Amino acid sequence: MIFDTHAHYDDSAFDSDRDLLLSLLPEQGVCGVLNAGTNILSSKKSIELSKKYPYVYSAVGIHPECVSVSDTNLEILKDLSKDKKVIAVGEIGLDYHYSQENKNLQIDFFEKQILIANELSLPILVHDREAHMDTLNLLKNYQPKGVVHCFSGSLEMAEEILKLGMFIGVGGVVTFKNAKKLVQVVKEVPLESILLETDAPYMAPVPNRGKRCDSSYIKFTAQKIAEIKNKSYEEVLLQTKSNALKLFRLEESL
Ligand code: NI
Repeated sequence: MIFDTHAHYDDSAFDSDRDLLLSLLPEQGVCGVLNAGTNILSSKKSIELSKKYPYVYSAVGIHPECVSVSDTNLEILKDLSKDKKVIAVGEIGLDYHYSQENKNLQIDFFEKQILIANELSLPILVHDREAHMDTLNLLKNYQPKGVVHCFSGSLEMAEEILKLGMFIGVGGVVTFKNAKKLVQVVKEVPLESILLETDAPYMAPVPNRGKRCDSSYIKFTAQKIAEIKNKSYEEVLLQTKSNALKLFRLEESL
């Protein structure tokens, strides 16, 4: 019943056992994984993985930490987006945590990739780290479909995202002790607007915090959400899976 809407199985953290791990996921209750690209090479690897496993889907995109001055990558990206296992453009967005010097370049890449997604009618996976205002303004301007992954904004921002018809991505962070703001967002936002995700190999939920994360760990995140919202674990898994199928238009294939 688990649909992981954000993972990075092309990451080198999985080099030693990627195939074994991916092939065992269905036994762990995982019915779908959306693997997000971070640059052209990673997007290509992501597509390869999605061809190998029927329950793995692919997102292609250039992460804000991977933007470069040349635009030719975006042409390649557009071609890759046309593959039939590609169901989203991502992960794309803004990250002002490490660098604000290339703000304009990040904004330029984010805008151009949103336009590609809109042109191909694909949803986007948004990375927003310490860039809430600029992210929200661009989303309001271009009105893409999609999800704000690893949501870290305020409740007010969450409400703006919902008004745009977008989803809130919730991962292992919600289980962390210092996650008060996110817990409040999860409490107030309807379950119909939440997607479950891991960001594997990163962001493993408690009790596995700090370990290498994989999609089966979503059960801890789902349990925490169930507790916050006073709903059953099964209802959280079922509703969030159906949200994912709706956003990524997979109703008929799964
Ligand atoms: Ni990610």
